Amino acid sequence: MSYKIMVINGPNLNLLGQREKEIYGTATLEEINRDLESIAARKGVDIEFFQSNHEGELIDKIHSARGDADYLLINAAAYTHYSIAIYDALKAVDIPFIEVHLSNLNAREPFRQQSILSSIAAGKICGLGGLSYKMALLAACEELQGENEG
Ligand code: DQA
Repeated sequence: MSYKIMVINGPNLNLLGQREKEIYGTATLEEINRDLESIAARKGVDIEFFQSNHEGELIDKIHSARGDADYLLINAAAYTHYSIAIYDALKAVDIPFIEVHLSNLNAREPFRQQSILSSIAAGKICGLGGLSYKMALLAACEELQGENEG
């Protein structure tokens, strides 16, 4: 049985490639996901993608991961900074997750420098654009499969 990794993206990330390109780059979410798909295939893990602009839908998706996914990669976008409900959902399902961001939050506005989610994340990768997701996926595979099978 292969491991399953779920990639969850929050609000406005559907606009990647059009939105504030100087901050978020020119790649679309579709392009980022295609890259992740090929890494997942190479590593022999199943991968599922979900994006929503709605907090409740993100929470429902996190709940649905229980018993289904072994690891989550989550870019909760603006919700990162204030959604106690998403924090609670991640805590409730108790599935390890990596917090992912395209931009370097520490170099941005003060309100982005606080993450509600970091304290319960397995790790956090930010500032590398689309590469943040790739590094997070490789890290999750390593965590799940162990050093010798990677
Ligand atoms: C983001 C950073 C957030 O502060 C912002 O609200 C986003 C994207 C990032 O990937 O850099 O929408 O999560």
